[in-house]
Amino acid sequence: MPKLTINGQSIEVPQGTTVIQAAKELNIPIAHYCYHEGLSIAGACRMCLVEVEKNPKLQIACNLPVTDGMVVYTDNPRVKDAVKWSLDFHLINHPLDCPICDQAGECKLQDYYMDYGLYTPEMDQRKVKKNKAVSLGDRVVLDQERCILCSRCVRFTKEVSKTHELGIFNRGDRSIIATFEDRPLNNNYSVNTVDICPVGALTSKDFRFKQRVWFLKDFDTICNGCSTGCNVKVSYNANGVFRVRPKVNKEVNGHWMCDFGRDIYKHTNKEYRLEAVVEKREDLSGATVKGKPVALALQEIGKNLKQAKNIALVLTAQYTVEEYEAFLNFFVGKLKVSSIYYWKNNETSFDSFDGLLIRGDKNPNTQGLLKAAQKHNVKLLPVTEFDKSASSFDFCILAAPENQAVYPDITEKCQMFKKSNEVVCITSCYNDSYNGFKWQIPAKSFVEKDGTFVNFKGVAQKIKAGVKIIPTSVSLEEVVYGLTESMGVSI
Ligand code: SF4
Ligand code: SF4
Ligand code: FES
Repeated sequence: MPKLTINGQSIEVPQGTTVIQAAKELNIPIAHYCYHEGLSIAGACRMCLVEVEKNPKLQIACNLPVTDGMVVYTDNPRVKDAVKWSLDFHLINHPLDCPICDQAGECKLQDYYMDYGLYTPEMDQRKVKKNKAVSLGDRVVLDQERCILCSRCVRFTKEVSKTHELGIFNRGDRSIIATFEDRPLNNNYSVNTVDICPVGALTSKDFRFKQRVWFLKDFDTICNGCSTGCNVKVSYNANGVFRVRPKVNKEVNGHWMCDFGRDIYKHTNKEYRLEAVVEKREDLSGATVKGKPVALALQEIGKNLKQAKNIALVLTAQYTVEEYEAFLNFFVGKLKVSSIYYWKNNETSFDSFDGLLIRGDKNPNTQGLLKAAQKHNVKLLPVTEFDKSASSFDFCILAAPENQAVYPDITEKCQMFKKSNEVVCITSCYNDSYNGFKWQIPAKSFVEKDGTFVNFKGVAQKIKAGVKIIPTSVSLEEVVYGLTESMGVSI
């Protein structure tokens, strides 16, 4: 283990560690653009200059392996001056259009100008003009003038997605990022290039111009798009959720997430949500009544459940372990329900895997559901078998899927559920197929509740309530509390 000192602090690191990595261990910041932990070393930007004792020239920390006894300085006047002029080179042809740039507020040019720059530019030549707002594909836009040619995006398509769409073309100050033969940047991981672009050159079509980033807050949770369970940061404010970005977890998703996972926030926002209880009133010739308080609705449901002889539960793998526990404890443990159906989506491609992150099981918690069922000695019946006994059920309690986009059979399955006498549909999003159910109860989406998802590998990961979008919505645990209160059943 070589031992070195950086700015007077010593540290021992494994052989092969670079100076930039060792500095990170000591929480010593070193400016960088082209270096990224998840990519190969390019040594292109020359921002990470450091002074190494006994070495006449400044060195780039990203490509400098640590040696025993090395003495490094990252913040002396010589280093600061060199970094300042590296930054000036990057800004020579930069359009400085921060007021209309979507990266403003999280741009490394802005940040390093404040940390190392604060100079008066001496350049009096006209800036080189390049193309702005170039559509690279379905999800990504490029501003060639803002690009500092760090090559992170190129290395991503070469090394991670292995789709090779991007390259650096031309020479000198005419160099640009572009796609080969106009092949669009449409791989399933394309928006990662936006995340790793340190400046405002690559922006996301979905997010750009929607919100200034300083009006957003982030919280960490787990993507509910498939059984990989990528760790993510969700950005939100009082108007809802606006974007999802990956959070590093080397065991699960590394630095990345897929483009489908970027869309999971959409169904958490108000426009897709069931905002209040919907009740189909028998006494008013099928009229629909909205807005009964959830607690009152659950009381009424509870009273009727007490009389029920034959109850069916339909579960999807889109809820948390804690919710399955509460449900099975109550319905199996207390009410002795034995007709429990597992509504599994996309059965044909359920076990597929694209070799990077995306899994065919488009549920975050299949393992959690199966384990909870096993623990409670429950045999989960395929939902297709519901039809056989549908008319014998007084009640069908349906924990409907949150991400409806991956349940293409909703309409067909709902027709089947409607054959039972009374359906209680607990759902975070509305759907026309639910019309005609006796009850629709607004459920919390995954960004509004705490709990656990177990991924395909069996890794249990916590999700966190970070935002409240539908204040009346309830988790399955809260549904159980509401029911037990009116039924006088202790849990
Ligand atoms: S577009 Fe962004 S990530 Fe790609 S080379 Fe330019 S600055 Fe780097
Ligand atoms: S791979 Fe799966 S868990 Fe990861 S971001 Fe995509 S949908 Fe979400
Ligand atoms: S981060 Fe070291 S040269 Fe770019």
